[in-house]
Amino acid sequence: MLAPRSLGGHFFCLRYTGDMDFALTQEHELIREMAYKFGQNEVLPGLAERDREHKSDASMLEKMAEGGIMGMSIPAKYGGSDTDYISLGIACEELERADSTARVVMSVHSGLHSLTLLQWGTEEQKQRWLPDLAKGNRWGGFGLTEPNAGSDAANLRTTATKDGDSYILNGEKTWISLADYAHQFLVITRLTNTDAKAPYAAFIVDRNTPGFSSKAIKGKLGVRAGNTGQIFFENMRVPAENMLGMEGDGFKVAMSALDHGRYTVASGAVGIITACLDACTKYANERSVGGEVIGKKQLVQQMIASMVKGREIGRLLYYKVGWMKNTGQRHTKECSMAKWVNCEAAFDAANKAVEIHGAYGYCDEFPVERYFRNSRGAMIYEGTHEIHTIMQAEYELGYRADKPISRVLPTWPVE
Ligand code: CAA
Repeated sequence: MLAPRSLGGHFFCLRYTGDMDFALTQEHELIREMAYKFGQNEVLPGLAERDREHKSDASMLEKMAEGGIMGMSIPAKYGGSDTDYISLGIACEELERADSTARVVMSVHSGLHSLTLLQWGTEEQKQRWLPDLAKGNRWGGFGLTEPNAGSDAANLRTTATKDGDSYILNGEKTWISLADYAHQFLVITRLTNTDAKAPYAAFIVDRNTPGFSSKAIKGKLGVRAGNTGQIFFENMRVPAENMLGMEGDGFKVAMSALDHGRYTVASGAVGIITACLDACTKYANERSVGGEVIGKKQLVQQMIASMVKGREIGRLLYYKVGWMKNTGQRHTKECSMAKWVNCEAAFDAANKAVEIHGAYGYCDEFPVERYFRNSRGAMIYEGTHEIHTIMQAEYELGYRADKPISRVLPTWPVE
């Protein structure tokens, strides 16, 4: 049923038949172990200092590329590690157990950028970009959000004007992860003159194009060791062959990108819960009050149990989405649910972790205050808490329904 094959990096691969199976395979467990070790050995050293100093570091991306992580869930024929989508979720979980910065790289580079290219690209576009992305020779970013278009994504104002064989882009995008580092971005624009029903188009944009610039955002509450910024386009000429999908497909490209990005956020959130449990079980077994360790106190046990519950539910939710991805099913609703529930559970776990640590939880001598700050961000990006609440209510009330879509990811095993 599963056939591991050799990879360029440290990650092994598997082929998934599509059967629903609650047991993880040996290969999944292997990926979990390798991602865990990568997080602990390559992401965590020096992280607390960089986080304190708001200092991002591109060397982490280089290490991720060397470790073979950046091609996860990309088929071997495009130079990827040929792992299924559940493996991608597991890797995100274990990377975020170390720090959110590493999982954010996966969300943006692998989820929002590479998988969307895999889903929407022509064969020529996939051959052109995916091998370098999968090997981590190039890093991908995503540009949807604008200063006045966050939750209301369709209100975006960045324009693309057709001019011969090219489009001229003007505008700006904000809250862009890897703004200063990514070699290329998937950018969603509004077409100025089009007959398409929806006036949107998506382009792969190279940062070395004249008219492109970027600027870091300073003073973030969390993910401080990660690079976030703005990107600007001033009369930037992009060849028409860089368009993903057709004129009019841009919004659908963006929404399907979020199906991939949200999956990585949902799985990563479980890693924050596990990190909270790692810290709290250690602390609760060492810290004594009134002659006994606080782990024996029922109110502390209640908080630990609540975190365990969040981790278990969170895994089931994202494994299901991974299975739906593996089997080629539309999963917008389920992915929104997983992202919504898991991010809330991660923030709740981090809040409880601070509570268990008392005053020590309020300073960066212990990692839980970082989990608290980082987990708050995930309730905002890739669809706020409110957007997912509304989506779930609309599905239930019959106001929203997911239609089958024409462009789907390759299923596992790859057709
Ligand atoms: N895949 C393919 N097509 C999709 C799709 C998907 N996942 N979701 C929607 N579509 C299609 C629909 O079928 C529809 O097509 P038709 O017109 O042919 O019927 C079209 O796209 C429009 O879809 P909706 O009617 O669902 O669009 P909407 O206007 O109701 O969407 C919304 C509203 C769901 C709230 C949406 O605006 C939304 O998700 N907003 C939140 C945006 C968001 O998450 N932003 C985060 C930015 S990225 C980020 O944060 C990363 C970062 O920088 C850290």
